[in-house]
Amino acid sequence: MAKLYIALVGLPARGKSLMAERLLEGLSADGLRVKVFNNGDLRRAELGARSAAPEFYSPENELGRQRRELIAEKNMQLAREFLDQGGQVAILDATNGSRARRQRLEELLNDAPLLYIECINNDPELLETSIRRKAKLSEFSHLSLDEAIRSFRQRIEYYEQIFVPLGEERCFVRVETLDNRIVDECACSDVPFYLQIRDILISDWIRNLFLVRHSESEFNIQRRIGGNAPLTPRGQKQAQALADHFREISIPFIFTSTRLRSAMTAAPLLKDHPDSIMIALPEFDEISAGVCDGMSYEEIRRAMPEEYAARSDNKYTYVYPDGEGYVTLRDRVSRGFRKALFISGAAPGTIIIGHQAINRMILSLFMYRRSGAVPYIYVPQNEYFHIVATHRKKLLELVSFTPDASF
Ligand code: F6P
Repeated sequence: MAKLYIALVGLPARGKSLMAERLLEGLSADGLRVKVFNNGDLRRAELGARSAAPEFYSPENELGRQRRELIAEKNMQLAREFLDQGGQVAILDATNGSRARRQRLEELLNDAPLLYIECINNDPELLETSIRRKAKLSEFSHLSLDEAIRSFRQRIEYYEQIFVPLGEERCFVRVETLDNRIVDECACSDVPFYLQIRDILISDWIRNLFLVRHSESEFNIQRRIGGNAPLTPRGQKQAQALADHFREISIPFIFTSTRLRSAMTAAPLLKDHPDSIMIALPEFDEISAGVCDGMSYEEIRRAMPEEYAARSDNKYTYVYPDGEGYVTLRDRVSRGFRKALFISGAAPGTIIIGHQAINRMILSLFMYRRSGAVPYIYVPQNEYFHIVATHRKKLLELVSFTPDASF
């Protein structure tokens, strides 16, 4: 029976544990016996908060280094036992950043092929978000959030001093975790399950995404575009119906735009899910209509007939004067979307409360429409799109959340 060790590599907060979880879930779904061996978990269990202080990670701290190596070797032994006892893929989730550590992996795990997977994420904003999330780990509970962030940053700096990217190893893949892109790889014919693993690395990993358009706003009923109008009373009822619908559904992350109508739609949801994390991303703000912001379509037609005609002619490539067009929206929305996926990680459910044009752009990532059709994708306010996308399952369904159609 084919067996494999996978050793993750990467500085802290680069998405390694999320990758480990994806590999575990993906390969298990393919019928393989897989287990993750996480050095951080073992360290916390064995050494507790003592090992949270940044000095523990200083390359100058010989005792700390020895303790970390012991933890790593213990996990290597456990991984080996797992494969001995019928396991097929053992995933070693740790920074594994120095050549010395990797040499040790190669010495101790010599009974099956070893594939390294390096997780890369050099996006400062995402790194910051990731660090903030790590700072909430229980090992920092004796510190304030600011102290925890400082401590974790210092830890990263120590790791950076000894970190060597993959390059000389026999079999490896280097992946950008923000956009699931393989940037470098050295494949070996004796590595089993390689194509499956590659497929998992480059596939989206969306457990349940609920793509909602904000509820009816004052501007919607006046047919005005842009602006920052609040919800109408009917819109508020829609938002409440949305919250009622999601009462029993797990949604640890709620992403909105920075616009009032998006935040007001999220408010009743948050009341029911007080532990959910709400994040307002400017990348999800509605298309900017530039000089036309706040006007109705009819006013534009009368005051700027050429602009109106140009837009009607090709809605996808048209760009509002001093504003945006679908064609220019793509990058920012994709970026916001990648960011939301990275932040929400392996969450069982994530809601995005976007806008008409924004949701069309997000949907276009899944619907594969020709660009000219994207500005016409149907985005209702009383239904949402439920999206699942893993390497084995793809789903896109429109779900109604309002009890009666008059909403
Ligand atoms: O009308 C609501 C709205 O969200 C406007 O703010 C925005 O300009 C418009 O939809 C985008 O849709 P379309 O591209 O069809 O005008």
